[in-house]
Amino acid sequence: MDAREMKIKAAEAALAYVENGMRLGIGTGSTAEEFVRLLAEKVADGLQVQGVPTSERTARLCLELGVPLKSLDELPELDLTVDGADELDLQLRLIKGGGGALLREKIVAAASQRMIVIADETKLVDTLGAFPLPIEVNAFGLTATRIAVERAADRLGLSGDLKLRRSGEAVFTTDGGHHILDASFGRIPDAEALANRLNSIPGVVEHGLFINLASFAIIAGEAGARTLKA
Ligand code: A5P
Repeated sequence: MDAREMKIKAAEAALAYVENGMRLGIGTGSTAEEFVRLLAEKVADGLQVQGVPTSERTARLCLELGVPLKSLDELPELDLTVDGADELDLQLRLIKGGGGALLREKIVAAASQRMIVIADETKLVDTLGAFPLPIEVNAFGLTATRIAVERAADRLGLSGDLKLRRSGEAVFTTDGGHHILDASFGRIPDAEALANRLNSIPGVVEHGLFINLASFAIIAGEAGARTLKA
């Protein structure tokens, strides 16, 4: 089974949790897009759902495939969000934001009764951090924010390159108009402590550590899809 087939397997398993009439948060990334494609087939067959997309990219795909959309302001309370992850551990802590949508993804997940993470087994790790942690920052005072992030990490014994994300020649800009620092800290033994420190830095808009948001994960591997609960 190749990587795409595993993503489809995870997405198929998540679709089983979608019920008629649900208000759905719809994630961002290649795995979430497989979910959107399968969801669109069900919608074409008569399933009624209302989706809130976590990015402009996901919104475009949903519109193209006929998945009905609302804004989070129109539907501020959601039944279920299905989204991918860049990494997850056995306690269902996640690193997200590889696709740059972490802020909307976290807002949507927090507004949902349940969040299902869909991923192929390569994303499951013992300790988070091999994937650089995306930190969304305000463009104002970027250097001051970078220094504050370095100091916060240093207090936890973490160090590493903080790379300003680019998109070709230009600095990458999120849907919210912010930038992203990709932090290569390596292993993050205490994700909660790092999340708390990052939360207290004014120039940090949001970070990609998702803690206590995922209800369960569906992990697809060669043997099929399995459910992972914390
Ligand atoms: C988007 O910002 C991310 O949080 C994605 O959910 C994450 O990068 C997973 O993407 P893939 O499914 O493409 O690996």
